[in-house]
Amino acid sequence: MPLSLHNKKIIISAGASGIGWAIAKVCLSKGAIVYLCDIDIKSLKKIQKHPLNNKRLFSYECDASDEYEVSDLFDKIIKKTNKIDALINNVGVAGPTGSLEKLSSDEWEKTLKINVVSHFYFTKLAIPMLKKNKSGSIINISSGAGIMGFPLRSPYAASKWAIIGVTKTLAMELGKFKIRVNAICPGTIKGDRMVRVIRDKAKFLKISKKIIEKDFVSMASMNCWIYEEDIGKLCSFLISRDGERISGQTIPVDGNATRLD
Ligand SMILES: NC(=O)c1ccc[n+]([C@@H]2O[C@H](COP(=O)([O-])OP(=O)(O)OC[C@H]3O[C@@H](n4cnc5c(N)ncnc54)[C@H](O)[C@@H]3O)[C@@H](O)[C@H]2O)c1
Repeated sequence: MPLSLHNKKIIISAGASGIGWAIAKVCLSKGAIVYLCDIDIKSLKKIQKHPLNNKRLFSYECDASDEYEVSDLFDKIIKKTNKIDALINNVGVAGPTGSLEKLSSDEWEKTLKINVVSHFYFTKLAIPMLKKNKSGSIINISSGAGIMGFPLRSPYAASKWAIIGVTKTLAMELGKFKIRVNAICPGTIKGDRMVRVIRDKAKFLKISKKIIEKDFVSMASMNCWIYEEDIGKLCSFLISRDGERISGQTIPVDGNATRLD
């Protein structure tokens, strides 16, 4: 039986570590060809040495929030393929931790630029490549903060709710081209990002990191961490034929998080 993503061509933004790299690994293991970019040269170098880097993985240095760099990235990818099966808008930073009245407009704008506007740059250039394919999938990585409030992280929450709005709208615009658009909302992911988030919150509230960590995990009814591969597995399902009639949806992978505070 052929692999579920056999020769499917997938672009992933910010894919050299964290959730993006986990998505890449799951998709590669199911037969996909992956084009990923990242701003971090160290992580890019590390994955270039990875055994999966065998003519099915192409990695590029690119700041996803710089329109010219994204355009240059697409020029490079188009030299390899003029159509793709999927775009995964994964890039997103945590942004600042603090009460809104203490945050600077600079921090707000930077968070929105990276988390929302960069998705626009990628999506705009990917749509013609998906249309050439006559079907495909766009997956926007939102967050639990895209369906709930998230105290002390207002710019992050604003950016992640914005992504849901774009997802719903694009699913309506692109349905007639058989292009599906969905958003995934990861919960508390075991990994480097949460180490930084817990550190910053503990510092802000002057509470121990252990207490903050326990509290984050307890926000899920299943009282569990979510793993990066869990997001990869859902992406793979949505891109595969199994997900071919799912569009316009916001799908949490969070062990049933009931609060985010
Ligand atoms: N980690 C979590 O707990 C969690 C929870 C919910 C949602 N998310 C979302 O999932 C996505 C991935 O999160 P993560 O935890 O893997 O992130 P991360 O902070 O671990 O970063 C992943 C990668 O993004 C790259 N990156 C950062 N800015 C970039 C830019 N401007 N251009 C290109 N690459 C850039 C980094 O170099 C890194 O390799 C984000 O959109 C994030 O908001 C994460």
